[in-house]
Amino acid sequence: MPETTGPEKVRIRLTVNEVPHDLLVEPRTLLADLLRGELGLTGTHLGCEQGVCGACTVLVDGTATRSCLVFAAQLDGAAVRTVESLATTDGTLHPIQRAFHENHGLQCGFCTPGMLMAACELLEHTAEPDPDDVREALGGNLCRCTGYQNIVRSVCAAGRIMAAEPRGTKA
Ligand code: FES
Ligand code: FES
Repeated sequence: MPETTGPEKVRIRLTVNEVPHDLLVEPRTLLADLLRGELGLTGTHLGCEQGVCGACTVLVDGTATRSCLVFAAQLDGAAVRTVESLATTDGTLHPIQRAFHENHGLQCGFCTPGMLMAACELLEHTAEPDPDDVREALGGNLCRCTGYQNIVRSVCAAGRIMAAEPRGTKA
């Protein structure tokens, strides 16, 4: 009986949170599973696993992307940012994290990493978003505890903090 070797793996190069990786992945490996299972970046959460809830949102080449819908093999050469990239290594929170903390935007916490990364993309392009900008940018991030007001307030506050402290606060 022939030995079963499983699907042929694909070699990809991926920069994750500014660290380069040379990886062998199965074609069916989802980005979310690679991040969590192989790279140990468990801050990216999986909720629906079908592109609906936004919990798994990361940045791929600066664009907010649902990591449960993308195969890692599609991303050769890409730069990925996860929620772990926000705080500095000494634990200093990113202004977006500070703003969520100070404005009670943190609720169940499961969905928060995806919201933070969607906010990152927004703040990269819109320095001080208004509430409607935030609602549009985070419209695909579901919160079942329905605390959207504080989340919107938090992202607006993050924009103000980052405008006032532009150095070292790159989204
Ligand atoms: S887990 Fe990816 S969108 Fe819900
Ligand atoms: S923040 Fe997770 S359900 Fe509201």
